[in-house]
Amino acid sequence: MKRNILCIGAGYVGGPTMAMLALKCPDRRVTVVDINAARIQAWNSGTLPIYEPGLDEVVNACRGRNLFFTTDIGHGIAEAEIIFVSVNTPTKTFGQGAGCAADLQYWEKTARLILQHATSDTIVVEKSTLPVRTAAALSRILHSGESAVRFEVLSNPEFLAEGTAIADLANPDRVLIGGADTPSGQAAVAELAELYGAWVPRERILTTSVWSSELSKLAANAMLAQRVSSINALSALCEATEANVAEVAHAIGMDARIGPKFLRAGVGFGGSCFHKDILNLVYLCETYGLTEVANYWRQVVLINDYQQARFVGGMVRAMFNTVADKRIALLGFAFKADTGDTRESPAIRIARLLVDEHARVVVSDPRALANARTDLADLGDRVIFEPDPYAAAAGADAVAFLTDWKEYRALDFPRLLHSMRRPAFLFDGRSFLDHEALFRLGFNVQAIGRTPLSHL
Ligand code: UDX
Ligand code: UDX
Repeated sequence: MKRNILCIGAGYVGGPTMAMLALKCPDRRVTVVDINAARIQAWNSGTLPIYEPGLDEVVNACRGRNLFFTTDIGHGIAEAEIIFVSVNTPTKTFGQGAGCAADLQYWEKTARLILQHATSDTIVVEKSTLPVRTAAALSRILHSGESAVRFEVLSNPEFLAEGTAIADLANPDRVLIGGADTPSGQAAVAELAELYGAWVPRERILTTSVWSSELSKLAANAMLAQRVSSINALSALCEATEANVAEVAHAIGMDARIGPKFLRAGVGFGGSCFHKDILNLVYLCETYGLTEVANYWRQVVLINDYQQARFVGGMVRAMFNTVADKRIALLGFAFKADTGDTRESPAIRIARLLVDEHARVVVSDPRALANARTDLADLGDRVIFEPDPYAAAAGADAVAFLTDWKEYRALDFPRLLHSMRRPAFLFDGRSFLDHEALFRLGFNVQAIGRTPLSHL
């Protein structure tokens, strides 16, 4: 008999991952549970709780067939033999390790629920990103009761990126499975590998120890974020020396040993993972007394913060050292294009810094406006939200592009300029627009890592 699959946590990771599993393994029953009833209701409706290109089609193909969303966690656990756990692991805001360590309370609560409701031997799969050696703690909790049920804990981190989740899930670079070096551990690894084998070529399914798997996820995110901070650090030097960061990135990236990806300078990385996972890594290093290693990784986050402050500083300087009472349209609020997600988005900090300078901030985004309203709720009417980019820019002294949405490339820039106050400033926080053309139109253009183009 094919074993039932459950996923606890119907978020950005759990939802799309299980939808793909259900699509590729039609003979498996896949259930996704969550404590958040509104979220489950949205997964069962015509408007999914997250925006992800291609997700609607996958969900529509499986929902009600072999993919189910429900809030009945206890029942779900009782019926499943393979349980993925994808609940959130935010940065701790209290007590020891506040601001750095992972808050594992939801994890522990979930483990206790599994222990309480499981009726047969179960494979528990860590999908969430976790500190190394969490599996050991998890296993201890799961075996702490009187029950005869045995649990095998695997680490199977998810590497999907938002905006490309469906393509990443359908065709992953690799699937990583960490398991114990025991007969039952290896049997569980083989079972999970077989599940992925329904669509992932065998040579892309890597099996390692649990600790290597847990650490690889943190390390992969840290290395990716480090590349972004490296190019952003260089962008500051480009601006000081009149080098062009896009040219530098291209020249560097053509070295096959370095490669061209993740070298786009901008206002910094956002998203739910990079910031949280690097801080997690820093905390782990400190826990093991590795102060120099911790400081090395912490610097990646500090450069990211610096880049946002530097961007706002550049805006204020360009606009005659004051933005007080000036209307500034922020075009793009999502942490990257093709998602409505704004978690840790650089736009949040940039909007706040501009409000601190008493600017009249107008926020626009094709997908992320609802989240933006929540992120900036405490600023009240000091921020205006406007879905239409032309309306946002009307009467503005400056427009600042913070997300590289492709629809922004296709904007009617003469129309935008016409509606703005003069001199009109355009700040490109993602270095993705045609700066020469915009300058010729009449904008004063300032982009990350490039020499400003000024009519003044
Ligand atoms: C989460 C983690 O943040 C990340 O570290 C990990 O790599 C994958 O899982 P994401 O899916 O983006 O990422 O988080 P989120 O969208 O917040 O989803 C988590 C879901 O878990 C939420 O819907 C939340 O309601 C649910 N949850 C949380 C539970 O069902 N039970 C809990 O006890 C806590
Ligand atoms: C990341 C990892 O890529 C993924 O493997 C992991 O599972 C979760 O974390 P995600 O955060 O969804 O995925 O998006 P990603 O494409 O990695 O971008 C992260 C941030 O870095 C975005 O804010 C993006 O704009 C920024 N970035 C990325 C740059 O500023 N420059 C680049 O060259 C690349």
